[in-house]
Amino acid sequence: MSAPNYMPQPGDILVLTVVSPLYRNIYKSEVLTNDKNNLIISMPVSEGKLALISVGTPIEVTCTRNGYTFSSEVTDRSFTPNARLTICLPIQYSSNDNKGPSVLAITSGKGGVGKTTFTINLAISMAQTGKRVFIIDADLGTANVDILLNLQPKFNLNHVVNREKELLDIIVHGPGGIFVVPGGSGLQNLANMEQWQFNRLLTGLQSLEQYADIILIDTGAGLSKNVINFALSANKIIILTTPEPHAITDAYAIMKVLDEQRDKPSPYLVLNRVESAKEYDAVSEKILHVVDRFLDLKIQPLGYILEDPAVPKSNRKLEPFMLHYPDAPASRCINAIGAKLLSPEKEALSIPTGYNFFNKIKELFSR
Ligand SMILES: Nc1ncnc2c1ncn2[C@@H]1O[C@H](COP(=O)(O)OP(=O)(O)OP(=O)(O)O)[C@@H](O)[C@H]1O
Ligand SMILES: [Mg+2]
Repeated sequence: MSAPNYMPQPGDILVLTVVSPLYRNIYKSEVLTNDKNNLIISMPVSEGKLALISVGTPIEVTCTRNGYTFSSEVTDRSFTPNARLTICLPIQYSSNDNKGPSVLAITSGKGGVGKTTFTINLAISMAQTGKRVFIIDADLGTANVDILLNLQPKFNLNHVVNREKELLDIIVHGPGGIFVVPGGSGLQNLANMEQWQFNRLLTGLQSLEQYADIILIDTGAGLSKNVINFALSANKIIILTTPEPHAITDAYAIMKVLDEQRDKPSPYLVLNRVESAKEYDAVSEKILHVVDRFLDLKIQPLGYILEDPAVPKSNRKLEPFMLHYPDAPASRCINAIGAKLLSPEKEALSIPTGYNFFNKIKELFSR
């Protein structure tokens, strides 16, 4: 799908209104380049001096060529090769190029094994390859994607369900060019929702279809019906575990439930916090052996993430390690997993496409 014609083009002049509690200033700027997510614009000049609008400043933007107005934010500022700002485009401005997104659910048996950290950093790794990646925070117990990303979303799926907002209004831009759909308590009561609320949720999620290349769902841990159904509605499930015996036993419990389904998925297995590739080989082989013996489920080992002090360090600072420690061992491991998932479709580990998540979710949650 080509970019809509209201998308600001290089050479277009924009009027920027800086909205701050302290002042309201109006500037002009020229579009230098555009991509799917951002516009790079010349640094506005005010009274002969560069207006040093800082990163994070909210702005209202009007394109003088076609009169289109949208809310945006300065996401980057640089002075080489010339002074320029990067501002984000609203999600409505662009569409993905393929038929439908690939949906991956990240789940675990035991809590605290690193799902949210993994989801966020994998999303950033995939976004760095030019994919438009969304995270749906569907962890009902401890929804914390926004916390780890230092985002303060004002609205979440609860507002969508209750008719206060549309889905596109609640999406927040995260670091590294990813998008987050804050779950809040919006998914808590799927089983008890009124039909019209459930329909609003589905229609909302369905509207993501035209914008997303990849959707990662942080499902939360455990075996609740919601977790299992979310996992089953995805194209693929990633079961994350650490090499600890407790975590492995709980991961096996999830595999057992998946094995009991009519349409058996073939989940990926990722080991987090391993000491070495050797440990990964040994532990994953053991898991596969047990699954092979007792279940009729095909598990695909996808990779591992090394135990790495950069992970808790960056989590404490609320900064994804993929951005702040791109060469750390954990970042390299995540990039390797992202590359396998995005490998050409014929490769064994690439995410399958052409699967309708939204129909599947409807089918699984319909009562
Ligand atoms: N590869 C790693 N190396 C070191 N520490 C890690 C690694 N991965 C995760 N951690 C640490 O494990 C802790 C739990 O991570 P995280 O919150 O992502 O887990 P979770 O599975 O989402 O938890 P919950 O089930 O509560 O949602 C964090 O303190 C994180 O820093
Ligand atoms: Mg979590």
